[in-house]
Amino acid sequence: MGKPKFILFSLFFATCFYSFTLASYNLDTPLSNMVRDQIKLEMQASLFYQTYGHYFESSDQALHGFAKYFTDQSLEEKKHADKLMTYLNQRNVQVKTLSEVPEFCPKLKFKKLCNFITGNKTKSDLNIDIPLTAVQNAIDLEEKVFDELEKIADGSDAQLSHFIEHEYLDEQIESIKELKDYETQLTKINGSYIGVLLLDRWLMEGKQNKL
Ligand SMILES: *[C@@H]1O[C@H](CO)[C@@H](O)[C@H](O)[C@H]1NC(C)=O
Ligand SMILES: *[C@@H]1O[C@H](CO)[C@@H](O)[C@H](O)[C@H]1NC(C)=O
Ligand SMILES: [Fe+2]
Repeated sequence: MGKPKFILFSLFFATCFYSFTLASYNLDTPLSNMVRDQIKLEMQASLFYQTYGHYFESSDQALHGFAKYFTDQSLEEKKHADKLMTYLNQRNVQVKTLSEVPEFCPKLKFKKLCNFITGNKTKSDLNIDIPLTAVQNAIDLEEKVFDELEKIADGSDAQLSHFIEHEYLDEQIESIKELKDYETQLTKINGSYIGVLLLDRWLMEGKQNKL
């Protein structure tokens, strides 16, 4: 290769590399911040389900199917956060340590159970259907998660939208549908202990409203 040709070649590759790394490969700052907020929300959901899972495990409730369901969900949410952290690294954006996981009780529609489970209230304040309220709290949280994911997917970065749509949105819809089915079943059960136990056994066996 002659010298002029070599210089042209180098220029060509340098230009490609430059536009690749600066113009599109690195995720822009507003979108990076949205993804970081999403990571916090996923971690918040993970802690929420972990706490609820162990509450159902306690002798206070002794509903081990619900305990298993919430504990499994907690691990799922942590995986969602991890996947987003890996994604930020793939887009050359610093993950940053989580300085805080925001409180979730104040944001919920039905706060009583959340306040009790996280230690802010005594049991005498509770006069509610606990399994039903736990499921309604989860629906509330998952709908917020869905809204935030939609905002990220609606952003200007085609590859990020693709990632969120494929890896998150479908699964989000499925888990909200599943929770809404439990809400209907628990509403009809209307606090009957035998009814709750029956659903609890289904959850224990993993037969969760699947065809
Ligand atoms: C405790 O409950 C009160 C109201 O009942 C609420 O204002 C406060 O934010 C709660 N604190 C925590 C830590 O959840
Ligand atoms: C639900 O239970 C409450 C009290 O436990 C009772 O008053 C009410 O009639 C029940 N509702 C239905 C639809 O069975
Ligand atoms: Fe999630």
